[in-house]
Amino acid sequence: MSKSVPVITIDGPSGSGKGTIARAVARGLGFHLLDSGALYRLLALHVLQRQRAVQDYSDTELEQLAGSMPAEFRANPQGDIDILLDNQLVNDQLRSEQVGEMASQLAAMPAVRSGLLQRQRDFRQPPGLIADGRDMGTVVFPDAVLKIYLDASPEARAHRRRKQLIEKGENVSIAILLQDLRRRDQRDRDRKHAPLMPAPDAVEIDSTELDIDVVVTMVMQLARQRLPTPAR
Ligand code: C5P
Repeated sequence: MSKSVPVITIDGPSGSGKGTIARAVARGLGFHLLDSGALYRLLALHVLQRQRAVQDYSDTELEQLAGSMPAEFRANPQGDIDILLDNQLVNDQLRSEQVGEMASQLAAMPAVRSGLLQRQRDFRQPPGLIADGRDMGTVVFPDAVLKIYLDASPEARAHRRRKQLIEKGENVSIAILLQDLRRRDQRDRDRKHAPLMPAPDAVEIDSTELDIDVVVTMVMQLARQRLPTPAR
């Protein structure tokens, strides 16, 4: 899709609030939404369902699988997005710890990242796109009109995750969540390909002490300043 379609990227570690903020900003601007983490999770679920160890795939196979897995995102009447794999609704399965762990391992593989690249760029459709992930501003949409890098302390992020899990009826201790989050952060930050880091031209926001609503207002204000007039 044409580079004239504006993109706003929101990158940061898990639990920084980027998904919630991306959804609110996309709604506010009437833009499309790309939750790139969901693509890594979809591939993870696809691999887990095939019951074949990741090590048994060649790079070419993994790249092809990433590019061709039968995944679909569909807006539903409630205003949310249904995620389908092989025509099955998988929103809840994608959020499991097992899928998250596999996604994080797959994300460190260059073949996987390259297989998902075009799929992510295909979301760039008029009137505009809000893309959230780890490398949206650095690799996938380097020409974005606005790049946000959202961070929060590991403790704040672990507490937010715990709250989400409790709402789903799962009770996991803060200590375990913190350990898990630190391990994944380290893998995301230390990997050679597309590591998690702010783009040099990103606006950095620390949401540790901020309400999500305040961050949404900040991002909407920045978006209005940066977007070309017809897209606002
Ligand atoms: O954001 P979420 O937790 O759903 O992402 C799942 C995993 O996918 C992350 O742990 C991260 O390793 C990976 N990911 C990535 N690049 C992105 C989005 C997600 O490496 N743009």
